[in-house]
Amino acid sequence: MAEVATVKTPRHVAIIMDGNGRWAKKRLLPRSAGHSAGMNRMIGLAERAKKLGIRYLTVYALSTENLARPKDELDGLYSLIKKYFLKNVDALIGGGAALRVAGNLSLLPEDVRQVVNQGVARSPKDAEFTFCIALAYGSRREIADACSAAVSDGAAITEQEISSRLYTAGMPDPDLIIRTGGEKRLSNFLLWQAAYAELYFSDVLFPDFTDECLDMAIADYSGRVRRFGKL
Ligand code: FPP
Repeated sequence: MAEVATVKTPRHVAIIMDGNGRWAKKRLLPRSAGHSAGMNRMIGLAERAKKLGIRYLTVYALSTENLARPKDELDGLYSLIKKYFLKNVDALIGGGAALRVAGNLSLLPEDVRQVVNQGVARSPKDAEFTFCIALAYGSRREIADACSAAVSDGAAITEQEISSRLYTAGMPDPDLIIRTGGEKRLSNFLLWQAAYAELYFSDVLFPDFTDECLDMAIADYSGRVRRFGKL
């Protein structure tokens, strides 16, 4: 009997969406145009991920380190959030998705924080597909805060107690982390959760990372042998 190739679908995919600035520069456009194109792609990929049966998609939209970028670039990102976040979130939720946010929202301007919180408030707690957006996110700080919280709760410092106090508590660890834009590093993203994630690096700049590029990453993941340290 002929063997039928089956694609193993990862339960949780995370994406480091790098390359918006270079995408814009190549087209002699302002960096904000790259972020705007990136935002559209981010939503497109969320829809594709849901169709593929991926249960969780986490995207790195703004790191704590990004908060030191020039004011005009940050203002551009904030204005993208204020203009389009709720519209996009409503469309995702309308399509049966749940929204989560990972990060220290107190580092964001009040008006931006309000918009993000409104999006979370509109979302169901659970759904077949969860879209998690990392905003003002830094993994070392997340781990340090989880440890501090465990100490204040009088809990033992165990892996479980720490995991249950991360922003991603309740979500499975990512099976696959994709980074676009050619760099090969994690940049303070999901360091704890990435312990056994498969890593996939693409030279494609994020706004050009098509649905087919995601499919290729999943096909590559599908061929990986995951041993989790065992034989
Ligand atoms: C890194 O590319 C990307 C970011 C710092 C922002 C990612 C944001 C989006 C995809 C849009 C959605 C955003 C929000 C906040 C909802 P880069 O600009 O550092 O690219 P470069 O390395 O080419 O300069």
